[in-house]
Amino acid sequence: MLERSGWWRGATVYQIYVRSWRDSDGDGTGDLTGIRERLDYLSWLGVDAIWLSPTMPSPNKDWGYDVSDYYGVHPDLGTLEDLDRLIAEAADRGIAIFLDLVPNHTSNEHPWFVDAAGGRRAAHRDYYVWAGPKADGSPPNNWLSATGRSAWSYDKLSGQYYLHNFLRDQPDLNWWDGRVHDEFDRILRYWFDRGVSGFRIDVANGLYKDALLRDNPPVEPTDHPAIKRGGLRPIYNANRPEVHEVYRHWRQIADSYSPPRALLGETWEFDPDRFGDYYGRGKPELHMAFNFLFVEAAFKSLELAAIVEGTLAALPSGATPVWTASNHDVGRFPSRWCDNDGRAIRAALLLLATLPGALVLYYGDELGMAEVDVPVTRQLDEMSLARPGRPSRDRARTPMPWTADKNAGFTAASARPWLPIGEHLANNVDTQEQDPGSVLNFWRQLAQLRKAGLVGTPGPLERVLLDEQVWAFRVGDVTTVANLSPKEAARDLGPGETLTVMASTNPERREKKVPPELVLGPWEALALGLSPG
Ligand code: GLC
Ligand code: MG
Repeated sequence: MLERSGWWRGATVYQIYVRSWRDSDGDGTGDLTGIRERLDYLSWLGVDAIWLSPTMPSPNKDWGYDVSDYYGVHPDLGTLEDLDRLIAEAADRGIAIFLDLVPNHTSNEHPWFVDAAGGRRAAHRDYYVWAGPKADGSPPNNWLSATGRSAWSYDKLSGQYYLHNFLRDQPDLNWWDGRVHDEFDRILRYWFDRGVSGFRIDVANGLYKDALLRDNPPVEPTDHPAIKRGGLRPIYNANRPEVHEVYRHWRQIADSYSPPRALLGETWEFDPDRFGDYYGRGKPELHMAFNFLFVEAAFKSLELAAIVEGTLAALPSGATPVWTASNHDVGRFPSRWCDNDGRAIRAALLLLATLPGALVLYYGDELGMAEVDVPVTRQLDEMSLARPGRPSRDRARTPMPWTADKNAGFTAASARPWLPIGEHLANNVDTQEQDPGSVLNFWRQLAQLRKAGLVGTPGPLERVLLDEQVWAFRVGDVTTVANLSPKEAARDLGPGETLTVMASTNPERREKKVPPELVLGPWEALALGLSPG
């Protein structure tokens, strides 16, 4: 995998929230060695690449998304040598490693900010965004942070405000300063030189802010619900056109390596054409970009089909679409989309696996892992705590269940896991491995189809059938048909021969071939191949 150029096309990427995956030293926190010791599991899962959630030193106000050193490894997670070993042993298995890169902001404990906060003449002052108060002393403009409050915090020493689109401990970098570009060029090369295969780029749409610091306009009724949640249209504090030049440049750096390194952006953009722009028009930019229209969609045939078709139409030709349905921010699809119904979970996995492009699974998706209701006394995510009434992001960050033991085999039985462990007695890797009908073994079947290149390769998608219950589409020789409803559905896939069943979510369906007239059970989905002869 790693040897090929274009290795990311059709890849299955597995997101590991490092603190929560596997603890090797019994301190209750998952770590890099814990991952290295389970690389065989990842190979068995059919994973081509792992995206590690932030690994760099951080005071952990936002669990690593507040970086205090871009060149190191957080001591809770291991050492630089542990990371080198993980990269090397993953490479032996053909597994690529993506690190999480946070270029939009640093920690307020990063030496750049510590210096910058020393006064208006500090050498690193302009690495960050500073502005004076309005005449009445209030913040420079109306921008809001992810906590819903002003994105500006006042600095008494200098009489200026600094910008933070997230927590006040996460000051935004000022991408209008060329030195910031140079810093990140160095950071990129440092990790690529160490053998890192790519970066997931945090808040990739955010780096530049309006040079005039203009007020954001109010949201409109027609705006996407995710935009409305933010309270204002984020057109000036993020989503500026200048960011594309950064990615054109980073792409050149990534492409200068052999094999080329890959860039996967966290692109919060709800307009399909502007989303497609992140792949680059004419000049290439990101190799892959997260599609939040898809992530935020309801699990309904009409909505999903419209978004998938709209996305594919908007991407430049040759682009690798990315399909994902769970992450450490939005939650887990088995709960969000499927109400933890195993039939719907299997249908979602089959859809995700057969859509053309890269697939990013979140750890636990392969088990149909549910979100965990973390009691407020054990919640650790400050961003969520700052917005009471919203579900805590901690619900999707709880430890991976490996076994039915106390602490689920995640950490020593005597340790205190950093976040509580959810229900794991029936659903864990051990029990599911042994059960041929488990979600895990169903995923494995899908993974083998992806590995064999039978599904998942980027390419045109043709609609076969679409109504409010059923969506069927064809990519290459494979037809996916999914009944996204709890009611049985009889449908005719149209003229044609019998079809070979490559995968089915329904354990009752034992036949190897089916006619084009199908009766689909509730939440039943199938991947069907052309039958020879
Ligand atoms: C991204 C991360 C999220 C983090 C935020 C600020 O959205 O996925 O977890 O809180 O950026 O870095
Ligand atoms: Mg540990």
